Amino acid sequence: MNKQLAITCFSSQISEAAEIIKSEIPNPGPHEVLIKNKWVGINAIYDRELYKGNVSYINVEFPYVMGVEAVGEIIAVGSNVNLHVIGDTVSTVKVGSAYQEYQVINESTAIKIPDATPDYLAINPTGISAALAVDKTAEVRATETVVVSAAAGGLGHFIVQLCKLKGCHVVGICGSEKKAKLLESLACCDRIINYKKQSISEVLTDEYKNKIDVGFDSVGRHMFDAFLPNLAPLGRLVVCGLAAELSAENFQVVSQPRVYESIYWKGASVRCFMNHLFKEDHPTARKMLNDAYLNNKIKVKVDPTPFQGIDAILDASHYLLAGRSIGKVVVQL
Ligand SMILES: NC(=O)c1ccc[n+]([C@@H]2O[C@H](COP(=O)([O-])OP(=O)(O)OC[C@H]3O[C@@H](n4cnc5c(N)ncnc54)[C@H](OP(=O)(O)O)[C@@H]3O)[C@@H](O)[C@H]2O)c1
Repeated sequence: MNKQLAITCFSSQISEAAEIIKSEIPNPGPHEVLIKNKWVGINAIYDRELYKGNVSYINVEFPYVMGVEAVGEIIAVGSNVNLHVIGDTVSTVKVGSAYQEYQVINESTAIKIPDATPDYLAINPTGISAALAVDKTAEVRATETVVVSAAAGGLGHFIVQLCKLKGCHVVGICGSEKKAKLLESLACCDRIINYKKQSISEVLTDEYKNKIDVGFDSVGRHMFDAFLPNLAPLGRLVVCGLAAELSAENFQVVSQPRVYESIYWKGASVRCFMNHLFKEDHPTARKMLNDAYLNNKIKVKVDPTPFQGIDAILDASHYLLAGRSIGKVVVQL
């Protein structure tokens, strides 16, 4: 049988919205392959919006299998499969596919990888998101000053490294000493700020007033407010995520001058990054990242906490949402 974590009703709590179900292991049809998932990536913040019923571009029909990315091994192939053979290790990225033990997918969607490891799982798609946010949305250039929130997280640890490779001055913001140590170990941040120890707004205003060429913010609220007034002329503030906003009941309503008050005279901008709108750029970004990884130009950090089996996905989700994780959170199946 195929054990799956599926949304069966909308709720703000994963334990209410999702349950473990079992179905027959599917047979691959023409041009399809059957994969045994070995590791899955946890995107708890996106997942929560999905099981709350807030992701408008996804049609959630119950039961809806959760999860986006997985790495695994092909254990059966359908007719007319030309790209893969049984035993190939592959990476897959597809909404509604990963949080299950087996999946059937079109052969063209399964990307061959040297081994089904958590590192390749983190690269595809989290590393790809970072690369596209840096190149396409932020248009980062060498020598620019970039400031990154949640810098020790799955997305953030790729962004800081990619910006350093471009020759930027990199500021990494994080919320614990453990996370600061991880950033130190990457040797790519010129300045590390633990916002639990110092006011992020004060530090940025003291040290980077009008100097932030690019800000990558995955948190929102106080973090967004600290970045915005410190943008440099022509600066870009890229909203990659809204962790603090989305963990609250409602979007915070603020009463203050509109965003353009801070940025008009500087010709600065606020931009939003959305990975799935750059599908055609994924292959190029993936190749760049795989090469950089194999040549030791970027390090992949996976959270060391062991989570095993479909049942453990709930624990892994809670762990990420509590802000405790460091690097990419993964579950071994
Ligand atoms: N737009 C896109 O296409 C796209 C693609 C990938 C990811 N994302 C977004 O990027 C962000 C990072 O994703 P990730 O999976 O790599 O997660 P992550 O960064 O590994 O984990 C989330 C981190 O965000 C920080 N955080 C601050 N306030 C938080 C809160 N209220 N709840 C949870 N975390 C909080 C914490 O770091 P500190 O303690 O250091 O603050 C936490 O460790 C998420 O918001 C995700 O939705 C967006």
